[in-house]
Amino acid sequence: MRWNERLYIKDLVDKIGETHTLYGWVQFTRKSGKIRFLGFRDGSSIMQGVLVQGETDDATYEMFKDLRQETSIKMTGMVQQSKQSQYKVEMLVKEIEILGTSEQFPITPKEHGIDFLLSNRHLWLRSKKQVALFRIRSTIIQAIRDFLFENHFIQMDSPILTRSVGEDPAGLFGVDYFDMGTAYLAQTGQLYLEASIAAHANVFCFGPTFRAEKSKTRRHLTEFWMMEAEMAFFDNDDNMDFQEDLIKYVIQRVLDRGEWYLGHLERDPEVLKQVLGPFKRYSYSEAVEYLQSKGSEIKWGEDLGAPEETLLTDDSPVPAFVYDYPKEVKAFYMKENVEDPRTVKCSDLLAPEGFGEIIGGSQREDSHEKLLTRIKEMDLPVENYEWYLDLRKYGTVVHSGFGLGIERLVGWICGVPHVRETIPFPRLMERVTP
Ligand code: 4AD
Ligand code: MG
Repeated sequence: MRWNERLYIKDLVDKIGETHTLYGWVQFTRKSGKIRFLGFRDGSSIMQGVLVQGETDDATYEMFKDLRQETSIKMTGMVQQSKQSQYKVEMLVKEIEILGTSEQFPITPKEHGIDFLLSNRHLWLRSKKQVALFRIRSTIIQAIRDFLFENHFIQMDSPILTRSVGEDPAGLFGVDYFDMGTAYLAQTGQLYLEASIAAHANVFCFGPTFRAEKSKTRRHLTEFWMMEAEMAFFDNDDNMDFQEDLIKYVIQRVLDRGEWYLGHLERDPEVLKQVLGPFKRYSYSEAVEYLQSKGSEIKWGEDLGAPEETLLTDDSPVPAFVYDYPKEVKAFYMKENVEDPRTVKCSDLLAPEGFGEIIGGSQREDSHEKLLTRIKEMDLPVENYEWYLDLRKYGTVVHSGFGLGIERLVGWICGVPHVRETIPFPRLMERVTP
């Protein structure tokens, strides 16, 4: 059989009454009188296998007692209709061949502590909720790419090893780079995307990014995946409009294709449908006033923390943009606001329900002189930014872009509060295995 001739559960919808062979894993077994059941997972879905004395081969019926949680099997039988499963099929089993045994799989349906589960992440990924989560993560990533490709973008991959600090010099992981001293793991691909817009106008990158922040919160990983987009001739208002359209496109896609999995996560699709209305927009100054009116002690000039972000969004089901933050709390490359030079043209997109910042974006400083001044003021090594400054010498244009943290977006859409669950193998301050 060629690889593309193999059938999966999802292919059985129109094969009722036919006999077929599938490959997969046993999720559970159960007996009821003379009937034997097994939960069967093949990577495309889950369905039930039914063994009936007289219909199932005797040897297979006998061998049922050797099946354990996560035994890998080859299963042949007749496809039948079923009410419960995703594709409304089950299999009346004729024959099972055990491919790999599995004694005492460590993760059982009982409650396990999070530390145990994270230490067994390589096995935990097979659990129903985890399967649902990563199906939706994949759907989200595909939707983002589709939106970008449908809207004049091309993918430009950015380097992981770099010398040009993108965000915060304090949060860098260093790597010995031959006899050239230290290189850093990229915190962002943005600067390289900025170089690419003069060639392609609208570009994106999607890859792992690294932050050596000592943050032990439910929103911080030391390695996370970021989709970054950069657009020529976009000001920060265009930037926000674009982000809003992108997020709605992604939500709609998850509603269209992921409802079954949202069910496994006990995530109410109605909550997500409400996100399709217009997003809120507050200037930073308006946000501070609003927060103060709600009892917050924040003062103008301070960054918004998780409690402020929650307070700002908890009266509404839609995300909110906060734009024009004070210069002091943001990165060096953001464009100064002419109307109020204490601030820069940027925005954070805050997800509702306490999920907080999912996107950080800005219009970029396009003046060579202003950018150079800013690099010096922030004490960054100018020699590492010569190439970046060049971009302002040869055909500089108004441009903007943003970075979307995939783990935070997935967490919000799936209603999973901690990002350690929304990436396959989380890297946290206290964890780099498995
Ligand atoms: O706001 P950030 O730091 O922005 C940038 O890196 C820009 N260079 C992006 C750009 O304009 N091209 O990060 C962007 C997003 C955040 O909104 C958040 O969703 C996510 O990346 N993020 C993290 N996710 C998990 N763990 C962390 N430690 C994160 N830091 C940022
Ligand atoms: Mg940010």
